[in-house]
Amino acid sequence: MGLLDIFGLALATALALWALWALRRRRRRTGEPPLVNGWIPFLGKALDFRKDPSKFLLSLQQKYGDIFTVHIAGRYITFIMNPLLYGFVTKNSKYLEFKEFADSLASRTFDYPSVLKEDFPDLNENVHRNYQYLLGKPLDTLSDNMMTNLQWIFKRQFSQTTDWKVGKLYKFCCSVMFEASFITLYGRDPSADGHNVIGAIEENFIKFDANFSYLAANIPIELLGATKRIRKELIHVFLPTSTAKWLGVSELIEARKEVFERYEVLSDYDKAAHHFAFMWASVGNTIPATFWAVYYLLRHPEALAVVRDEIDHLLQSTGQERRPGCNIRLTREQLDSLVYLESAINESLRMCSVSMNIRIAQEDFIFKLEGNQEVSLRKGDWVAIYPPVLHMDPEVYEDPKEYKVDRYVENGKKRTTFQKQGKKLKYFLMPFGSGSSKCPGRFFAVNEMKLFVILLLVYFDVEIREEKQIGVEKNRLGLGIALPDSDISFSYKLRP
Ligand code: HEM
Repeated sequence: MGLLDIFGLALATALALWALWALRRRRRRTGEPPLVNGWIPFLGKALDFRKDPSKFLLSLQQKYGDIFTVHIAGRYITFIMNPLLYGFVTKNSKYLEFKEFADSLASRTFDYPSVLKEDFPDLNENVHRNYQYLLGKPLDTLSDNMMTNLQWIFKRQFSQTTDWKVGKLYKFCCSVMFEASFITLYGRDPSADGHNVIGAIEENFIKFDANFSYLAANIPIELLGATKRIRKELIHVFLPTSTAKWLGVSELIEARKEVFERYEVLSDYDKAAHHFAFMWASVGNTIPATFWAVYYLLRHPEALAVVRDEIDHLLQSTGQERRPGCNIRLTREQLDSLVYLESAINESLRMCSVSMNIRIAQEDFIFKLEGNQEVSLRKGDWVAIYPPVLHMDPEVYEDPKEYKVDRYVENGKKRTTFQKQGKKLKYFLMPFGSGSSKCPGRFFAVNEMKLFVILLLVYFDVEIREEKQIGVEKNRLGLGIALPDSDISFSYKLRP
């Protein structure tokens, strides 16, 4: 058989397969949302979605209205585009579930057995109950300890900073936030090289994190180079043989350990894998979020001046010194009173959050929305909210592409009223998810970021040294906070 014959045969087979797929592909049933299938078998519209999700979804919204179903990589995803309808998704938890989706993603990514298995009765509920240690008094203690640890780490930098020192901003935020968060939650290895121990864990964390989105997208770990070995090493960090000697473990992690101890069927490796998953959740988004908060402030000197001023005033009014090396303590109320700093953090979260809220239809059902509006959904279909579209909606946020440090301040207080179609929005800023899947660490995360910015600005003069604008890395789309597409040089010097 000649080369042309082989080519002809391959083409004919491909066409036949494509025709078979086109005949069998899903068709819209009466009552269902408009259906966008795409022409590429299995992928459907995945490539268009990946290229620019917001642009793609907005173009479909213009054509089909606020609710439509898109075929993306083998899934049928019904997008709810109007933020006034988001509440119907979170309220409908009987039919629209998150648990199974989260469990399958997390157990696959972090290598522990599904928590929903019968072998582990109530494990999922017990793990969720444990999140109470991220609220109230335990949250205050965590924030206090985070402040102590951040000061200790910042002071270590002083010995090297008599004159302007140049560094990379993401690397700096990552190393300080990783170490401070890690020791605040898991405690400290008392050995002399405790700092190096954390440094080695951080190095592995960065390598794992770089491939996190591929794992989440169901790419087999065997195809991701050294990721499998690195994940194993990171899980081993949390084996009882390593953690038993660590001092200053948080109440949250102690209580979490006790939860897992109740399940004899969980091996030490499984328990360690759970701790690793929590460790990733606690820093995987906080680090890029801290980077963006600082990056935008440094890019906008007038915003930086407003925030610096607010912090200086607070320290002065609480009788605390404002010089490098001084010990600062702030209560929850004092941290809460920093409305411009909080607004700056919210504004950077608005601009860089790329998370998608997903629910899965538990059975065929009629999804009732506002007024008489209703759509039929099929069992197994995904329902998704994509907040980045809301975050850039010019009807909700004036000049949405512009960074405005006071966007979330009104008459000197936190601004919580934003409108669409003349109606007040319940959901206007959603970096932490919504409803049953809302991030339990959100209050701690915002406190951590505030404390980092406070110390950075109290201790140092800081400047960005490059003109280039930083964009977001595309791989993380759909998952938390975007990573920057490159790092940027900055310089810092002790304040006089
Ligand atoms: C800026 C920082 C953070 C952001 C933007 C963020 C965002 C999120 C989002 C969007 C989810 C829901 C995921 C989904 O819907 O699939 C989530 C879940 C979670 N987050 Fe965060 N998070 C942050 C910081 C933290 C911190 C500091 C902790 C803990 C100390 C934490 C612990 C968790 C946990 C444990 C879950 C899973 C909850 C569950 O079991 O349902 N997060 N986070």
